Amino acid sequence: MADPTHVSVLLDEVLQYMQPQENKVYMDGNLGLGGHSAAIMARCNGQARLIGFDWDEEAQARAAKNLASFGERITFVRRNFAEVKEVLADLGIKQIDGLLLDLGLSSLQLDESNRGFSFKREEPLDMRMDSRVAENAADLVRDASEEELADIFFHYGEERQARPIARAICEMRATTPILTSAQLASVIYNAIPLRFHPKKIHVATRAFQGLRIAVNRELDNLATILRDGVDVLAPGGRFCVISFHSLEDRLVKRSFKAAKGLKVLTPRPVVAGKAECQRNPRARSAKLRVAEKLSNEPLAGCNSGRM
Ligand SMILES: C[S@@+](CC[C@H](N)C(=O)[O-])C[C@H]1O[C@@H](n2cnc3c(N)ncnc32)[C@H](O)[C@@H]1O
Repeated sequence: MADPTHVSVLLDEVLQYMQPQENKVYMDGNLGLGGHSAAIMARCNGQARLIGFDWDEEAQARAAKNLASFGERITFVRRNFAEVKEVLADLGIKQIDGLLLDLGLSSLQLDESNRGFSFKREEPLDMRMDSRVAENAADLVRDASEEELADIFFHYGEERQARPIARAICEMRATTPILTSAQLASVIYNAIPLRFHPKKIHVATRAFQGLRIAVNRELDNLATILRDGVDVLAPGGRFCVISFHSLEDRLVKRSFKAAKGLKVLTPRPVVAGKAECQRNPRARSAKLRVAEKLSNEPLAGCNSGRM
């Protein structure tokens, strides 16, 4: 059942916190290739309902294939998870018993999508996870002002060399359009003096992260689901979030702490053990935070859309 293209991170830990049970309704906000969803459903002997969100058409198609054995118990939704309230209302579901987010990119998107997520390859500079979004990374690199680009690299990429990178992009685009990932990586490489090149990561890592977050409005979407997800959880329901960089983790931590009606179950984030990190290098930066919906919320007493 597991798709070798993408290895799901912190799988045992998610199951341990989510405690999937038969006849409950779960939501996977980041279906990807369906690894976490398959494990959640398998834990319930297939006797639960799962709503799987992914706005990437390719991911949805792969997940549908990988999860076919669960039949109609899985509902595939090609929408932004930030639209959770609208989507659940359309499906006639008032509450869910568990919500999982496994943020960011899948290995399928990074390695095989030909959308320029990686600085390692010559690919079109697209970076949209959802191809229906109007503006792609090449558009942004062409149209944003030098100051806007510097802000994107600084705030979303936490890149200290944001200004020289933005300047170099503007100088280059004045004569040559920047249309591919390798082209952009080369501009970034040359913009930063060698003595400031980081030792442990590629020099373009942070700027690429910043651009991707901006194109997909990742932090806005996360803030929305962190707010609305609490409202759709049934009392006792668990909200599990796996994040991969400090901007996301900080948002999750603060939002869980500030939310009325949530009890934080992980005072410190759960991280992958040595063995998992060796098996799957992606797991090294993964952080899982979990909170539980308290039962004395005003929503308590509503019927859930349980099967
Ligand atoms: C890390 S992968 C998920 C992998 C999955 N948990 C698994 O085990 O196979 C993240 C997925 O979330 C999707 N995604 C990211 N942000 C999203 C959003 N706001 N709404 C819907 N899907 C999103 C991406 O397209 C990607 O396929």
